[in-house]
Amino acid sequence: MIIAVDGPTASGKGTIAKAIAAHFGLPHLDTGLLYRAVGKQVWLNDGDPDDPQNALSACDFPDSLLENPDLRSEETGGLASRVSVHPGVRQALFERQRAFAQQPGGAVLDGRDIGTVIAPEADVKLFITASVEERARRRWMEMQDRELEITLVEIERDIVARDARDINRKDAPLRAAPDALVLDTTSFDKDQAVEAAIEAVKTALKS
Ligand code: DC
Repeated sequence: MIIAVDGPTASGKGTIAKAIAAHFGLPHLDTGLLYRAVGKQVWLNDGDPDDPQNALSACDFPDSLLENPDLRSEETGGLASRVSVHPGVRQALFERQRAFAQQPGGAVLDGRDIGTVIAPEADVKLFITASVEERARRRWMEMQDRELEITLVEIERDIVARDARDINRKDAPLRAAPDALVLDTTSFDKDQAVEAAIEAVKTALKS
């Protein structure tokens, strides 16, 4: 059973995907982390994330980089969004994601193009969304907890820029697959969002 969880930045898709994986006893892959590792590796190489060749060279990052807590920063998220527009980068990361999706027993993957490109045959496709204001608020709370200095306005600006880049790129843009269930979590807290997503998966599996 393959479950695809897509959505924009800070929509809660990662939390939801993790909870679905735990509930159904499936392995989970956060595909954004792969793009974040490429973005970070470009930076470590002193490269330019907007240069297709520099970005492609960074795709052979060491697996140990995936453990680097720095991958979760806003800055690395921005770099990830920039390297993710290059078709060569998407191609280089495709097989790894595809193999994870196709493992025996199934898997849960979250990202931007799981239901459209990586696993269009997924048994269930969820598209998680929330308003920009609410996503910025959630990200800001998270940053406060980690004592990172950034204003709500800066976060909102960053989210709008990232949405625009993810939605408007030519290759595998962020969009809901036609057969995805769209779940708007704007008015939900974390537990409500997780519960609604698990219910949606159960309903989809019954039909
Ligand atoms: O989900 P995230 O914020 O960790 O993703 C960081 C960036 O990586 C995102 O802005 C776009 C890119 N990405 C992508 O293009 N395709 C994916 N499947 C996952 C992430």
